[in-house]
Amino acid sequence: MDVRPEVSEYGSVDPAPASDSEQLDELRSILLDDNAKMFERMRSVFKLRNIRTPESCLTLCEGFSSTSALLRHELAYVLGQMQMDEALPTLVKVLSDDQEHVMVRHEAAEALGAIGNREAVPVLEKYLKDEHIEVSESCEVALDLLNWVSNSTIA
Ligand SMILES: [Fe+2]
Repeated sequence: MDVRPEVSEYGSVDPAPASDSEQLDELRSILLDDNAKMFERMRSVFKLRNIRTPESCLTLCEGFSSTSALLRHELAYVLGQMQMDEALPTLVKVLSDDQEHVMVRHEAAEALGAIGNREAVPVLEKYLKDEHIEVSESCEVALDLLNWVSNSTIA
């Protein structure tokens, strides 16, 4: 039998299947536990994404306190998939943090484009000239996406 990881309700094949838990506090404590296995932490991430309430979104935002850049990168990615304005302040902060890992900042920029709220335009324009090409190119793509979306809604 050919068994493969399932496709999520977002159309993505995720690196870990969503947790079976529905308990926000349980999902939160696994997410925030730097000693928990990365697979389990990612299972919490994808479950919190699937729940997709303001609370689950803000719980994911708390996860940026994690010491794992891989996890923080994944958080930025799912916040883009969720397309919730609640994540905007956190993603702006992550993109603007020059101490943050460049791939986390890159993913925060793309998420700001994916959310589709034009409030993100000034910060994306600010980092168009970032010294890291991964960040500047992501800002360019995000701005092009925001412009493409607003042009296609006017037409
Ligand atoms: Fe990425």
